Amino acid sequence: MIRASSILDRVLVLEMVRVTEAAAIAAARMVGRGDEKAADAAAVDAMRTALNQLPMDGTIVIGEGERDEAPMLYIGEKVGNAQDGGPKIDIALDPLEGTTITAKAGPNSLAVLAIAEGGGLLNAPDVYMEKLAIGPGYPPGTIDLDKSVADNISAIAAAKGVDPVDITACVLDRDRHAGIIAELRAIGCAIHLISDGDVAGVIATTDPDTGIDVYLGTGGAPEGVLAAAALACIGGQIQGRLLFRNDDERARAKRWGITDLDRVYALEDMAMGDCIFAATGVTDGSLLKGIRRRKGGCVTSETIVMRASSGTIRRVFTEHRHGVAS
Ligand code: FBP
Repeated sequence: MIRASSILDRVLVLEMVRVTEAAAIAAARMVGRGDEKAADAAAVDAMRTALNQLPMDGTIVIGEGERDEAPMLYIGEKVGNAQDGGPKIDIALDPLEGTTITAKAGPNSLAVLAIAEGGGLLNAPDVYMEKLAIGPGYPPGTIDLDKSVADNISAIAAAKGVDPVDITACVLDRDRHAGIIAELRAIGCAIHLISDGDVAGVIATTDPDTGIDVYLGTGGAPEGVLAAAALACIGGQIQGRLLFRNDDERARAKRWGITDLDRVYALEDMAMGDCIFAATGVTDGSLLKGIRRRKGGCVTSETIVMRASSGTIRRVFTEHRHGVAS
């Protein structure tokens, strides 16, 4: 049982819905327009404006990049309108998770964020992370990033009471995953290949309707922390290990206080204690319906918002009858 944080006022749960709704509605204008940058910029601007209306002393711990790379929502940026004395909250965000998906009108792009008490979210640098995740209901220790793909699939299958060939794995469709895909094929598993969007890929393991049992492979570390926050609320297990391609990335990790570069992070190391996770669909996906523009200017959105300590999972369908988030 996770103790409720006194900092994360329950009112904030619904405030987070407004924040991700605003970003998703802004990004949705760019769905299918072939312009990733413009879609991302619209979401960032809208999310920042919405965050700055909230009575908190917020700090971005996972954002659009480091200060010299991102003009808005950079790591370390202060947001919220109560910097003097408001609750100190850490924020991990991705105003548009799936920029390419949005540009191509593909499935599963999201506006997403997680908040926790100061220090409650891993300050992961923007490098790759090897990830392995399953949904709720498995005994602790079912997955182990240090074990082979075959051993993990066997353990998941045994715990589920099926044969390894009956397991469905979700993997990002990338050349770097050729080895993992070959191992899964050798076992005979089904592979659900996704073009982008591994936050939704990890969360898909929690929903029996998706048919996905396990997520594995390498994606963004920030997305790994966001996915861990989601699993802290819904249940499930995730392990992640940062991967560094060069000395610059290693130096980046050290700047954020990471000394053990080979460490395997468990869920509790990425999202500690109570947290709130919210995501609004930009395009339709396994988790959420995307934004719709109806006749007369009404815009609809679907959001999932969850809290670790209370275990509540809310789905909020909103009609924005003036066409903008408010
Ligand atoms: P963006 O929204 O930044 O485009 O990220 C999409 C995404 O697919 C993530 O979900 C995933 O973690 C990462 O990119 C994978 O990175 P890469 O495209 O370099 O393989």
